[in-house]
Amino acid sequence: MALLKILHYPDPRLHTVAKPVSEVDDAIRGLAADMAETMYSAPGIGLAATQVDRHIRLIVVDISEQKNRLLTLINPRILMKEGESVHEEGCLSVPGIYDKVARAEHIRVQALDLAGKTFEMDATGLLAVCIQHEIDHLDGKVFVEYLSRLKQTRIRHKLLKQAREAM
Ligand code: NI
Repeated sequence: MALLKILHYPDPRLHTVAKPVSEVDDAIRGLAADMAETMYSAPGIGLAATQVDRHIRLIVVDISEQKNRLLTLINPRILMKEGESVHEEGCLSVPGIYDKVARAEHIRVQALDLAGKTFEMDATGLLAVCIQHEIDHLDGKVFVEYLSRLKQTRIRHKLLKQAREAM
């Protein structure tokens, strides 16, 4: 297993639309394991392949306190959205920035598991937020794009400054 480098906003590669996984093989399982390790080590509660510069439809999520409920979703698709709720979100690709985003309160998702088998699940609350946030990454969208133009400009400048100072 290995820790992967996480792309930081405003890296243009974060706007790549990911391609579906055609076959769930050992390479995909290896990448999923590395992504989980990277997410836990950050620490974070979700990570999309897009964020580690792999543009395929694969996300890992674990919102549990004990970090023992890893969920791997391959080719995830939202079948149903219901209600609306506003949560404060953050993102490993946008370090230090948190802001409120409105999303569906309840979703039903279909995906492939690590054995390549299709399953469906319902999610509400934080889990629903997290899955919607990660699927957005696969579509090339970062959560700050839901914020005002002014906030996006400020965030971009702040992160570019941080990146310069880290060099
Ligand atoms: Ni994110």
